[in-house]
Amino acid sequence: MDSEFRELYQQIILDHNKSPRNYGHLDDATHVLDGQNPVCGDHYTIYLKVKDNIIEQARFEGSGCAISKASASIMTETIKGKTIEEADRYFEWFHKILTGSVDVNESLLKVGKLAAFAGVADFPVRVKCATLAWHTMHNALHNKKERVSTEEDEA
Ligand code: FES
Repeated sequence: MDSEFRELYQQIILDHNKSPRNYGHLDDATHVLDGQNPVCGDHYTIYLKVKDNIIEQARFEGSGCAISKASASIMTETIKGKTIEEADRYFEWFHKILTGSVDVNESLLKVGKLAAFAGVADFPVRVKCATLAWHTMHNALHNKKERVSTEEDEA
């Protein structure tokens, strides 16, 4: 990863950690699920409001490291206003970015600021931080009721 890209990555993570978007409870959520990383104890609750296959609202609550919080914040921004199928595609792309199995330049074109997480691929131990909120969102969206744990995560 070149230094320009690394700087972009750091700026995005810092910004979303400091000022998380869509943070807080959602009273009229249609889908709610908890996710946690039992190794560190970090946990988030994801709230989604889905109507006519569109994710009208996405919010989150909880606490965790800078990467997990920034990732949750960007996840809610990314999927808001999207269809369930589009959110699924973003979820798949995010995995590819984190595992380094996609070209960063191509990623930037397709998924914008999500591509900043390509930096996490350099630190495998942080991949679970980045995927926590995404897995929770994905399971919530598909009505899987069990609390998400990163220790069952294959990311
Ligand atoms: Fe706990 Fe990152 S250290 S999710």
